[in-house]
Parts: sequence; C-alpha cells; structure tokens
Amino acid sequence: MSFTIKDSAGADGMRLAGRLASEVLDFLTPHVRPGITTGALDQLALDFIINVQQCQSATVGYAPPGYPPFPGAICTSINHVVCHGIPGDKLLKKGDIVNIDVTVIKDGWHGDTSRMFLVGDCSPFAKRLCALTYEAMWHGIAKVKPGARLGDIGAAIQKFAEAQGYSVVREFCGHGIGQKFHEEPQILHYGKAGTGEELAPGMTFTIEPMINMGRKDIRELGDGWTIVTKDHSLSAQWEHTVLVTPLGYELMTVSSGSPPPPTWVSAQA
Ligand code: MF3
Ligand code: CO
Ligand code: CO
Repeated sequence: MSFTIKDSAGADGMRLAGRLASEVLDFLTPHVRPGITTGALDQLALDFIINVQQCQSATVGYAPPGYPPFPGAICTSINHVVCHGIPGDKLLKKGDIVNIDVTVIKDGWHGDTSRMFLVGDCSPFAKRLCALTYEAMWHGIAKVKPGARLGDIGAAIQKFAEAQGYSVVREFCGHGIGQKFHEEPQILHYGKAGTGEELAPGMTFTIEPMINMGRKDIRELGDGWTIVTKDHSLSAQWEHTVLVTPLGYELMTVSSGSPPPPTWVSAQA
C-alpha cells in the first residue's frame, strides 16, 4: 500500500490547489524578465499566495530530514541548475532559462507545478531543450491510465529524452501528493515498461522530469539544496500534478496560462 486514493471530495481539493499553484506561475510570467532578481520573484509569489489566494506555501520552512529549512515560496533554477535553486539576489539576464517551481496548500491539499521560462532571447539549443523537456513530461503523462504501471511512465520519458541526445536525472523524481507534499511512491523518470505499481483511479502524483543537455550526473551545492549538473550543461524541468481517472488522467495543475499539450496528445474524457 503506497498511494493514498482520493475520493471525489479529495479530487476537488486537489483540483483547486492545483489550479491555484498554476495561477502563481501565470501571475509571475510577465515579471520573468532580464534585470529582476529571483528574490524579487519570490516576494511577489509569496505575497500572491498568502494575500490574494489565501493559501499557504508548502516550501517556506520545508525541511525534510537532513535538509536545512527551504527559505522560498518558489524554487528558481537557472541554466545549469537542475532543481531546488534558492531565490536570492541573483539577477536574471537575457538568454537565461529558468525553472520556477511552486507548491501551494489550499484547505490542506497540495498543488505542485513548474514551468520553464525563457528570459529574453535565448539560443536555439536552450529553446529546444525547454520545448523537448515539456514534450518528455507529456510522454509520461500520456501513459497514465488505470492498469498502466509506474515503469511505463519512466520508460516513455527516458526513451524520448535519450532519443534527442539528452540525459535523465536519476536522483530526483516525481511523487505521490495530497494532504502531504511528498507522499509515496516515487515516480521515476526512467525505467522499464511493464514494471512497478499498477495505477488505479483516485491516485494523484507529480510527473516532473529533469533533463540535461549533457551528462546525467549532478552535484549538490554547499547551501544544502541547490542541485547543478556536474558538467555544467543546461538542464530543464516541467512539472504537473495528475489524477488517475477511470479513463486515463486529469491534470490538476492547469490554469489559463498553462501551455497547451503537444499536438500529438489526444483529448481526455
Ligand atoms: N516543488 C518541488 C517538487 O516538485 C520540491 C521543492 S522542495 C523545496 O517536489 F523545499 F526545495 F522547495
Ligand atoms: Co513535485
Ligand atoms: Co515542484
């Protein structure tokens, strides 16, 4: 027994929390420009979460065993930063790619999502990495339906990413989510189709592949949180929270600013 199953009230709670998390990213989008600091983006996000959305931040003060408390309402992971970048006085500059990851709590339910942002004009190879990492996430999402196995998700992401010449980060993964931020099980972004736990309606979890242009190896910085690529190659990540439905999946983390699914994704009932 690893997944918690959400009943229809739980699914409603997850839908609301998920939409609100996505709306934080919508709100931040016009501010993600050259010359702003990641700390200023964090202040904007925290104020919006607390005072406009009347939510809590799941990340401010978050301290899993062995970690110092995370100070921010968002993670800001620029260029070769893979994930968990701490907001601060770092200035965004033209040509940067940045992942902004936000998790809010509404009525006890968690919504967790992230997107890549292009800061001004970016190189074609940076744009390609961001676009294809989005597609890689969707290759995982598209596998979600009752009876599918967790390994189907990871295998689809890995196959697509590696076919582009990219690598998949192994040390961090998606996760069950609900009334807790990080619930069991882990959702790996690599693996073997047909293996792992079987999916069933009412499960909610994140799919959040971290894809590197170079090698898969990572290193943690001395702040106890920031993860970078060992070879300093660019890294990208996108994240959605999904619900397994009787026919397939429903995205929890959608809002008016969510990018559309890739054209090859067929509509879900
Ligand atoms: N939002 C991240 C995830 O997708 C976790 C961030 S934890 C933090 O699971 F403390 F770094 F914010
Ligand atoms: Co997550
Ligand atoms: Co997240």
